[in-house]
Amino acid sequence: PLRIVVLVSGNGSNLEALIAGCATGEIPACIVAVISNRPDAHALERAARHGIPAVALDHRGFPTRAAFDQALRDSIDAHAPDLVVLAGFMRILTPGFVAHYAGRMLNIHPSLLPAYPGLHTHARALADGAAQHGASIHFVTSELDGGPVVLQGEVPVAADDDPARLAARVQRIEHLIYPRAVAWYAAGRLRLSNGHATLDGAAIVQPQRL
Ligand code: GAR
Repeated sequence: PLRIVVLVSGNGSNLEALIAGCATGEIPACIVAVISNRPDAHALERAARHGIPAVALDHRGFPTRAAFDQALRDSIDAHAPDLVVLAGFMRILTPGFVAHYAGRMLNIHPSLLPAYPGLHTHARALADGAAQHGASIHFVTSELDGGPVVLQGEVPVAADDDPARLAARVQRIEHLIYPRAVAWYAAGRLRLSNGHATLDGAAIVQPQRL
């Protein structure tokens, strides 16, 4: 089956959803390693609990971003993955790293891209009075949170939301859309070709929304 390496920095709830998707067969793939740039990430415990090799690679131990990215690349490639999945991985990646995994790296971002790339997406959506918010799965390109979007999950914003409440609602839909998009990739249905995401050979122009 297709081999996946998951990169994490924190809690790992999306990792957990992906592990579950592989276990049920929804995702025809196996997660062969989980790598965190933060040694204390709860995601590493989740991986270990499921018997998945869990690797801590602390970015603070490297003099430059490029040096960290080279070590990260070596660590990933030691597991010979077909797909790299960023699941709450909170480091900006160098262009060379991104190019090495072109067409075989997915990210989840907590907004309805192209709205709110970058950080603090929930607070920004609230400050704008947005009626809808959500999360996006996209191929990773050198443009930060700017690669072709594959699938989105939409949630309503409530009048009394604060960033934490809104984040929790977004996370519930993240746990639905990420396994689905990774399943598409694992089944050979999802590709990046000429800078466009395609599903079953057709360009994804307007991403599906859950
Ligand atoms: C998720 O909400 C994900 O969208 C976000 O981090 C959270 C990780 O949660 N990703 C980013 O902000 C990427 N810049 P998790 O560790 O429980 O999966």
